[in-house]
Amino acid sequence: MGEVLGVAVLGAGHMGADHVRRLDQVVSGARVAAVADPDAARAEQAAAALAGASVHEDPVAALDAPGVEAVLIASPAPAHEEALLAAFARGLPVLCEKPMTPDSAGALRVVEAEARLGRRLAQIGFMRRYDAGYARLKSLLDGGELGRPLMLHCTHRNVSSPAHFTSAMLIDSSVAHEIDAARWLLGTELTAVTVLRPTPSALAPEGLLDPQFVLFETARGALVDVEVFVNCGFGYQVRCEAVGERGSARIGEEHGMAVTARGGARTEVPQDYLVRFADAYDREVQAWVDATRRGRVTGPSAWDGYAASAVAEAGVRSLHGGGRVGVDLAPRPELYAPTAD
Ligand SMILES: NC(=O)c1ccc[n+]([C@@H]2O[C@H](COP(=O)([O-])OP(=O)(O)OC[C@H]3O[C@@H](n4cnc5c(N)ncnc54)[C@H](O)[C@@H]3O)[C@@H](O)[C@H]2O)c1
Repeated sequence: MGEVLGVAVLGAGHMGADHVRRLDQVVSGARVAAVADPDAARAEQAAAALAGASVHEDPVAALDAPGVEAVLIASPAPAHEEALLAAFARGLPVLCEKPMTPDSAGALRVVEAEARLGRRLAQIGFMRRYDAGYARLKSLLDGGELGRPLMLHCTHRNVSSPAHFTSAMLIDSSVAHEIDAARWLLGTELTAVTVLRPTPSALAPEGLLDPQFVLFETARGALVDVEVFVNCGFGYQVRCEAVGERGSARIGEEHGMAVTARGGARTEVPQDYLVRFADAYDREVQAWVDATRRGRVTGPSAWDGYAASAVAEAGVRSLHGGGRVGVDLAPRPELYAPTAD
């Protein structure tokens, strides 16, 4: 590795452009060496303020560009597998945005390819693990003060969903975050999922099943429920309450400014995940850069990406009339640390 890690960013949309800015202006020890997007104008725009970054329409060409030592994948999920395998073939460490792949079969191919290499190269972008609130909740649960966790109650609300958003994406794109967070917080696998469909909001786009109510069962007997509502209209809210045998803890309430004016008080609600989780993205990318420069790979693994895909897939089957759907995971390769079970 050079003094400063040269990163190729694949995909220069909403997340990719923000990661380019982060690598350039926030994170230390890294620089953007290449930007790729089939939409050349987007790639050019994201790279406009950078010194010495090459710009590509072909993502694979960016991996072979001068100075590239690591890859940040921020293309849409269907493009992730090809990019991950291309990075593996070159021995390049990768930070790949979630979901790792659109389906569990693709995710398993990624896991198997990395296991064949015999060393981890991929970190998956489940950035909630780097959010201060989530990290505090994790250490509280691990410390045992609340006793054995019994339930997690989670809320995931967006102001509105993008035009391409489908009913399945409420599970495999949005609730994907709760799936990873629950596995991580509770240190256990999710074993079954039931998705209930309240009457859709009149404000949701025609045909979109929004909101949804998702119930996960876990290998250790705790339950996890998630309200996911991606056209709530008023803000971006992600909250989680853990209930244990001896107490409860709640995170995610404190992200807006408290305003007192004209004889009343209100708390502002962030409108966007880039605001709500800004610190988490910064910490995630800094941790990835720091580990990569030390020749290490930390954070959520390809196995975590696979497990999230398998659980989400079961959730989508449940959504489409499957009732309670069990989750069957493939055997975990030795490369990946076991969960607590
Ligand atoms: N961690 C999070 O909180 C979070 C939030 C939003 C999105 N995401 C994830 O980030 C990824 C990108 O989402 P987005 O909202 O930025 O989407 P976007 O549509 O805004 O941007 C995607 C960009 O990728 C480009 N692209 C398409 N195919 C490509 C390819 N093969 N190689 C390189 N670029 C390609 C598109 O032209 C587009 O510019 C998705 O996996 C999404 O789920 C993560």
